[in-house]
Amino acid sequence: MELTQLPEWRALDEHFSANKNIHLRQLFAADPDRGPQFSLRVGSLFADYSKHLITSQTLALLLNLVRARQVTEARDAMFRGDKINTTEQRAVLHTALRNQSAEPVLVDGQDVMPGVRHELAKMADFANKIRTRQWLGQTAKPVKNIINIGIGGSDLGPVMVTEALKFYAQADLHLAFVSNIDGTDFVEATRGLDPAETLFIVASKTFTTDETMTNAQTARAWLLKDLPAAAIAKHFVALSTNTKAVTEFGIDPVNMFGFWDWVGGRYSLTSAIGLSIMVAIGPDNFHELLQGFYDMDEHFKTAPLEQNLPVILAVLGIWYTNFYGAETEAILPYDQYLHRFPAYFQQGNMESNGKSVTKSGQPVSYATGPIVWGEPGTNGQHAFYQLLHQGTHLIPADFIGTRLPLNKLGEHHRKLSANLLAQTKALAFGKTADELIAEGVPPELIAHKTFSGNRPTTTILLDQLTPRSLGQLIALYEHKIFVQGVIWDVNSFDQWGVELGKVLATDIYRQLQTNDTSNDDSSTSNLLKQLLS
Ligand code: F6P
Repeated sequence: MELTQLPEWRALDEHFSANKNIHLRQLFAADPDRGPQFSLRVGSLFADYSKHLITSQTLALLLNLVRARQVTEARDAMFRGDKINTTEQRAVLHTALRNQSAEPVLVDGQDVMPGVRHELAKMADFANKIRTRQWLGQTAKPVKNIINIGIGGSDLGPVMVTEALKFYAQADLHLAFVSNIDGTDFVEATRGLDPAETLFIVASKTFTTDETMTNAQTARAWLLKDLPAAAIAKHFVALSTNTKAVTEFGIDPVNMFGFWDWVGGRYSLTSAIGLSIMVAIGPDNFHELLQGFYDMDEHFKTAPLEQNLPVILAVLGIWYTNFYGAETEAILPYDQYLHRFPAYFQQGNMESNGKSVTKSGQPVSYATGPIVWGEPGTNGQHAFYQLLHQGTHLIPADFIGTRLPLNKLGEHHRKLSANLLAQTKALAFGKTADELIAEGVPPELIAHKTFSGNRPTTTILLDQLTPRSLGQLIALYEHKIFVQGVIWDVNSFDQWGVELGKVLATDIYRQLQTNDTSNDDSSTSNLLKQLLS
């Protein structure tokens, strides 16, 4: 049955109409235990979702919807290796990449786990050679600059995690990332580097992505300016599912780290795509990261719905997107190491659930994936929080902090944490006109200084930012997106929406090469004239 026709949906609609004007001030006043009641610990993560516009009845109704949409059955089908990516006829098994159990995981009757373990061992061997200076370049100098060339899922995950876990990285290795087809990215990443000490990791699931292939060709030319053709073997490795294209590029398959079509790009950082991460933090830390993912996978698989954190975060998102009409969600890490976390889940969420047809191809009659954005606190407080506090949009926000800092420096962490809690408090409870009057604020400023409050937030506190807690955090968001996709009945694992632009760019590129300004729309042809003038 169509989502909005379900009795469970209608019940939520009625509940929303009856309760939409309730204020968090009332909810907290009515229940002195609301904080502990609406919070949950999973592994190293503590999540407080009490500052949401919900009662226990709201949650119960939302979980009824989860049951009606058979989310747990869909979850089991994913873990089992069913081909749930129906438009591409693929299994979706990123969970196999971090499976720490001895259980087999079958795709088409074959256990994929031996292959997963083989690639992990090969990655560890390579990472150790780089880290111990045993991987020598063409001139017998050890390689110390590692440049990952990839884009989208073949870039954002490695960038986000290497930034997040910089504290654990080997300091004398220089890691850089080139993703953009803008030549500036390559030029700046390689500026001043000695090709004899530089190794390129070409990361591309398909090994056909234009940006990555163009940057990889440029890298080869850059290297071969100084070194003979034989240097490719020592200065290039590939991460891909496409052995043929890797070989054609000139990279020996011995230097290729493989993965499989059942790993989606935006879910691939625990596959070979994570090689740059493993080089940076070492195989042991990488395994801790996998363990963290696995912790959350197990939680998602086994916890009852009422205590299942990915499910709870998912239904809270549904509540705002579909009932309150919220269009965006902010992710606000109060940890500088997590500064690329929002960008990572911009792809994770928007490429997964930015869909407007159901799995069977019917147009949806309800909103689906939100616009995801964010920047680290406290910087954001001095930039866009004005709108969060007093703007006209309802923007549910996730505040992510840590209990213990990695860098103990004077009062910094205490002040950082104070800001995190202060912001969620201000967003929830605001400041009333009466309070302002009592403080003697002049009448003409009362309206300007009033904070309506009632702006929902989740607070997630990690005990400390470690490879394991980061794995738990990433998997939490992955599964949240999965649950929402099931409820919205969209295929969260394809991305046809990126195709048209790629095709048109190929045509327009040819026009730019041949000075052809003709086009079937006058704007594009006028712009071509500008570019070619
Ligand atoms: O832009 C679409 C996309 O296919 C993403 O889903 C993917 O992460 C990215 O391009 C890179 O793809 P590849 O790893 O095949 O180069």
